[in-house]
Order: sequence, then C-alpha cells, then structure tokens
Amino acid sequence: MSETATLNVLGLCGSLRKGSYNRRLLELARSMAPEGMSIEIYKGHHDFPVYDGDDEDRDGIPAPVVELREMVRDADGVLVASPEYNFSIPGGFKNAIDWLSRERQPFTDKPMAIMGASIGPVGTARSQYHLRQSMAALGAIFMPRPEIFVGSAAKKFDEDGAFTDEIGTKLIGDLLAAFRKWILQVKA
Ligand code: FNR
Repeated sequence: MSETATLNVLGLCGSLRKGSYNRRLLELARSMAPEGMSIEIYKGHHDFPVYDGDDEDRDGIPAPVVELREMVRDADGVLVASPEYNFSIPGGFKNAIDWLSRERQPFTDKPMAIMGASIGPVGTARSQYHLRQSMAALGAIFMPRPEIFVGSAAKKFDEDGAFTDEIGTKLIGDLLAAFRKWILQVKA
C-alpha cells in the first residue's frame, strides 16, 4: 500500500443511543479525518439477535452480521468509540463482536484504534482495556496510543451535541494522524 493512498476507516460505535456521546466523537473524528483517510460510520448493531448457538446451527449467520463482517473486511482500519457499561464492554456491542467472530471472522491482523466517552470519571478506560483484551482473541492489532478517555462527558458536549473539550479535540487529531501511520505500518 502506497504512502499516499486514501485509507478507508470504519467507525464502530458501542452505543445504540441516538444522542450517544460516543457516536458524536466518531462524527467529530470523521469531520477531522486527515488527508489520506476517509471515515465511514456504521449505522449500528440494532438488528443483531442475541447470540444463540442453536439459532446459528439452524439459520446460519444473520444478514446484518454478514453485512457488517464484509464492511470490516473491506476497511483498512477500524476505529471504535464505545461507552463503558458496568466497568466493561456494553453487552450489545460484545454480542455483535461475538457474532462477527464466527464464520470468516474479519478482525485477524485488522489495524484498530479506540476511544470512548462516559459520564463517569475514568472515561471508559476499563471498557477499553476489556475490549483490547477480548479482541486479542481475534488477532486485531490495536494501536497502543494515544489513549482517549473522555470522562465527565455530560460537561464536555454543548446543547447542540458539539464536543467542547479542546484537549480532547486535539487528541482526536493526534489519534487519527497516528492511526494512518499505524495502518500503513501494520499492512506493510
Ligand atoms: C452506564 N454508564 C457508566 N459510565 C461509566 O463511566 N462507567 C460505567 O461502568 C457505567 N455503567 C453503565 C451501565 C449502563 C447499563 C448504562 C446504561 C450506563 C453511564 C454511561 O457512561 C453513559 O450512559 C454514557 O452516556 C453512555 O455512552 P453514550 O450512549 O452516550 O455513547
């Protein structure tokens, strides 16, 4: 892959909420994508059934899972923004990853980056580390840093949903620039 190629990054949000802070972070990242990167945000895993091995044996992989699997497969890199639920990965998002991990799982050697926002003080740190650990099982290659933990999120978005934290915004720019290099490095 050439140094000047435009890398296509898929944004995955761990929250299904319409007003999700994490989706807003992804939207901000999309608007800040550096030259040589475009970001598409996945609509959300609303239609994924709860994983049940009997359903899989009977019906195979559900269509929304296949659709997202192919999107991940086609992406040069995946950027996650997820909340933390009860100190860990939101159940619905973990369920989506569990489904994706079944047939022809698309995460092996996939460059990945992560950020997150929560209303709590540690800004999804615990959830991010659980996700890194869990996805090691799939061979995903997470960029180690910069780390972005947006804590006390309710105070960092204005009434229109705009992210108002200057340091956080700069960090997102840093993360995107580093992620472009990371993807090229992993793919080389
Ligand atoms: C939360 N929230 C939360 N926050 C946190 O910092 N640590 C936590 O462990 C939890 N646990 C938790 C569990 C459940 C079931 C819910 C619904 C919420 C609060 C969470 O940070 C807040 O709802 C965020 O706004 C969720 O992110 P989105 O949906 O705005 O992206």
